Amino acid sequence: MLLEIDNLGVTFTTGDGEVNAVNGVSFGIDRQETLAIVGESGSGKSQTAFAAMGLLAKNGRATGSVKYQGKELLGLTPRQLNKIRAEEIAMIFQDPMTSLNPYLRVSDQMAEVLTLHKGLSKKAAVDESVKMLDAVRIPDARNRVNMYPHEFSGGMRQRVMIAMALLCRPNLLIADEPTTALDVTVQAQIMKLLGEIRQEFGTAIILITHDLGIVAEFCDRTLVMYGGQIMEDGPTDGLFAAPAHPYTLGLLSAVPRLDRDDVDLATIAGEPPDMSRLPKGCPFTPRCAFRLEQCPTVRPPLDPFEPGRRRACHAPLEEVRSGAPQGRPPAKPLVEAQP
Ligand SMILES: Nc1ncnc2c1ncn2[C@@H]1O[C@H](COP(=O)(O)OP(=O)(O)O)[C@@H](O)[C@H]1O
Ligand SMILES: [Mg+2]
Repeated sequence: MLLEIDNLGVTFTTGDGEVNAVNGVSFGIDRQETLAIVGESGSGKSQTAFAAMGLLAKNGRATGSVKYQGKELLGLTPRQLNKIRAEEIAMIFQDPMTSLNPYLRVSDQMAEVLTLHKGLSKKAAVDESVKMLDAVRIPDARNRVNMYPHEFSGGMRQRVMIAMALLCRPNLLIADEPTTALDVTVQAQIMKLLGEIRQEFGTAIILITHDLGIVAEFCDRTLVMYGGQIMEDGPTDGLFAAPAHPYTLGLLSAVPRLDRDDVDLATIAGEPPDMSRLPKGCPFTPRCAFRLEQCPTVRPPLDPFEPGRRRACHAPLEEVRSGAPQGRPPAKPLVEAQP
């Protein structure tokens, strides 16, 4: 196992109390695997990744365990984490300017990474940077390496960020909504590039996205999150063909909205949960047509039910698979009284 996350929790302290953004998340990713994390916005996808990389906001705290090649990452010093982040696990974001310095030429910022972490001379570092820009298919890389980030188009800047992330040949790349801000054509090009990188460098990829089309095409395995918990996970093909959790059913039948980075919540009746007042049981309960008496109070364990597949749900598997509760009326969405 390349990365193994066990019972991960993330809590933020705010003026209004504690926000439980991630609640007991456990999963692993193997070398060269591609894993998707999907779920509506606010479901804890990004914070799961940030916690694993030691990048939580100051008011956040992580509990549990994150092991990279057997080595515990939670509790490492900032210095140790910097090294891991540069050399072993890299992360890319929706906005490339999160990782690029607007005031430095691309050559300088890329070379700095290599002189610092690989001990290369400045000249060797720039040569290597050009090679990496070539690898992400930036035309005329030898000249363009001297440009500033703002001189690149959106799609090209995304490529620069990817090249930057790959400089030290990380074993794992975490991509958080990497194509959300791009138009469809550029989106497809970037996903193709990530696929090629995986082939070329053998990089494992965790792809955080709400775009189920991309997931179906790109990812071996999919993990569905809601309310900071894993609802279900398994091989992408099987999970899409026969979802085993009512939330996955809803997500797959939901309609993507063009005007927002999200699926249309209205197709899953009800509202996403308030992360500072999660029910003791399953967080999806108030919106779930399959809910049973114990659902609000007893958290269903994430249990294996088929080889490679797990789900956290009290409703009978056959019922969920059939698409509707059997022999009982579907539960109506609970509307909680607004305080
Ligand atoms: N610094 C913070 N302080 C308080 N709450 C936060 C902070 N950062 C994130 N959250 C909350 O954590 C929850 C999960 O967020 P996130 O992981 O970003 O969701 P997503 O699935 O969209 O990536 C959200 O309810 C968000 O408001
Ligand atoms: Mg996010």
